[in-house]
Amino acid sequence: MRTQVAIIGAGPAGLMLSHLLARDGIMSIVLESRTRQAIEETIRAGVLEQGTVDLLHELKLADRMEQIGERHGGIEFRFRGRGHRIPMRDLTGGNEVMIYAQHEVIKDLVAARVQQGGEIVFGVSDVQLHDLDTDRPRVSFRRSPEAPTEFIACDFIAGCDGFHGPSRSSIPENVRTEYHKTFPMGWLGILVEAPPSSEELIYCNHDRGFALVSTRSPEVQRMYIQVDAQDDIANWPDERIWSELRSRLATEDGWAPIEGPIIQKSIVGMRSFVCSPMQYGRLFLAGDAAHIVPPTGAKGLNLAVSDARVLAAAIGEFYQDSRTDLLARYSQICLRRVWKAERFSNFMTQLLHRFPEHSAFDREIQLAELDYMTSSVHGLSTIAENYVGLPIEWGT
Ligand code: FAD
Ligand code: PHB
Repeated sequence: MRTQVAIIGAGPAGLMLSHLLARDGIMSIVLESRTRQAIEETIRAGVLEQGTVDLLHELKLADRMEQIGERHGGIEFRFRGRGHRIPMRDLTGGNEVMIYAQHEVIKDLVAARVQQGGEIVFGVSDVQLHDLDTDRPRVSFRRSPEAPTEFIACDFIAGCDGFHGPSRSSIPENVRTEYHKTFPMGWLGILVEAPPSSEELIYCNHDRGFALVSTRSPEVQRMYIQVDAQDDIANWPDERIWSELRSRLATEDGWAPIEGPIIQKSIVGMRSFVCSPMQYGRLFLAGDAAHIVPPTGAKGLNLAVSDARVLAAAIGEFYQDSRTDLLARYSQICLRRVWKAERFSNFMTQLLHRFPEHSAFDREIQLAELDYMTSSVHGLSTIAENYVGLPIEWGT
């Protein structure tokens, strides 16, 4: 097999890249280890930045998002039993976020790619990367564990295979630096059959720990509570989850979440991770393959999309003008935005969670920080502009 760009992984990064390349007439093949059904059913993120929303419109992939998604112009920070609205739309000259589940984005991107005749091979195994430091790299794979090994010869490999995929580890250890931070807490997330409890997302800091109220549709809601990183979901019968949500989210004026049957629950860990550089020879990493953020800033999916955007522009420049300037600066352009998203996600995590090591002094400082951030126009603006998404900076 021969293509221009071999893309490993059909998550937001890989699928978005295949669409952007196709728009420029560049061929790609996407290799995905899971089934189409599995990637379309995995529950993950839910907040799309303004730039991600605009890109989906540009690519004419926004119809279902406009039907089912919800535009939000603000979020609430809740602490000491009171809500404080952050009017993002007003503070950023009209920018908003879209609440639209990641698996819905995946469904839209896959359906459109398949309809355009794009090649996505699902259920592959034994994916390996070869000859990265030549201008004829190759990817080998099997269509099933018993099938023979096949090779794709290409010009570029896009490693969009998430944190556990094989791409990053194909970069020799002595040329990459990895930055890690693990947080001592996890998020227990639930999907609930109930009407929305709130018109906007609520990020709540409480003595018992963080809580978040988000939404998926008029019928299904998404909520999270901070739990211990080592906790087991078996320790969390539904009534215990509701009891925590009620206690943490309670306000002076008697607000309570609307309850309903819990249809899904799981615990995810919280970590920050960056691999630098994000490229080696003809291999370019995008999305979670290169970096992870804790979910508090709602940045994971959006970073995957902005990496895809930079990579598509760089590959486009190579084929159109035979130039490698953007390709050479790919890591640098992406990492500048990645580190700012790491910074914001870290800031939101520190601001909103209870930390086992915090003293009474640290706790008061945290509450004072929340008070400052939600009462100063500078504090509100800094949260608003980061939350709706910072621009990609293409310059040096
Ligand atoms: P992924 O979406 O991980 O896609 C990578 C793809 O590569 C996968 O489909 C995988 O099956 C495939 N793959 C892996 N190995 C191979 C291989 N060997 N060969 C071929 N294909 C391979 N972010 C938020 O902002 N908010 C959240 O609430 C949130 N919740 C999350 C919950 C979970 C459980 C996880 C794992 C992530 C969550 N994230 C969240 C992060 C966000 O979902 C990711 O940042 C986003 O999915 C990154 O997109 P990606 O395309 O880089 O990687
Ligand atoms: C979600 O709806 O899943 C969600 C919302 C905001 C976050 C993280 C996740 O910060």
